[in-house]
Amino acid sequence: MDVQNAYDLWSANYDADHNLTRDLDQTVTEMILGNLPVGAVLEIGCGTGKNTPLLAKIGEKVTAVDFSAGMIAQAKAKITAPNVTFRVADITQPWPTADAAFDLITCNLILEHVADLDFIFAEASRSLGVGGRLLISELHPFKQYQGSKAQFQQGEETTFIPAFIHHVSDFLSAAKANALDLLVLNEWWHEADEAKPPRLITFLFQKQVDKQLIA
Ligand SMILES: C[S@@+](CC[C@H](N)C(=O)[O-])C[C@H]1O[C@@H](n2cnc3c(N)ncnc32)[C@H](O)[C@@H]1O
Repeated sequence: MDVQNAYDLWSANYDADHNLTRDLDQTVTEMILGNLPVGAVLEIGCGTGKNTPLLAKIGEKVTAVDFSAGMIAQAKAKITAPNVTFRVADITQPWPTADAAFDLITCNLILEHVADLDFIFAEASRSLGVGGRLLISELHPFKQYQGSKAQFQQGEETTFIPAFIHHVSDFLSAAKANALDLLVLNEWWHEADEAKPPRLITFLFQKQVDKQLIA
């Protein structure tokens, strides 16, 4: 099953299912961004809008994008904040965003489904203003090396959603190639993960100041 169909199918139960990775991602996103007032925010792969209320609180306006109509429908049913606009779009295709239009781009638990990281970093860099930030939160590659990937259960049937492994160095190389400086890298464990590898990795990048402008 392809990624889009899988999330359409999962959408009705995504919020209610037992999912420690989803829950930890919400906690760490709040810890990283909770006190960061920003202007325009782009949330890519917003899903059912788990992190969208936080972005609507810290941001002046939020554009929340996902290619699953089912996931977006769940988000729209819950989130009525007037500063949030939802759009259905595939982030592996050229983004429907103006250059330098955003101050913050967030990307939570989505890049495991995307083969070409460089394209995503290039579009994020193009869409960020100078000094703008890109937050990425992903299933830690250490978990992927052990076989973890996004999956859901319907009755007796488990659906594994197509996933790609991106090494830490892949994220750092794609950022470097696209004028994004690493500000902070963190690894995160759920309280149920004692003595296990980290569950999540987060990167906070910043669009480089144009060094020619300040020279
Ligand atoms: C695990 S969910 C995460 C949703 C939300 N960010 C969260 O943290 O709960 C992954 C989301 O990425 C979306 N997604 C995957 N590939 C995508 C693509 N190429 N373009 C847009 N959305 C995509 C899926 O539809 C799904 O809603």
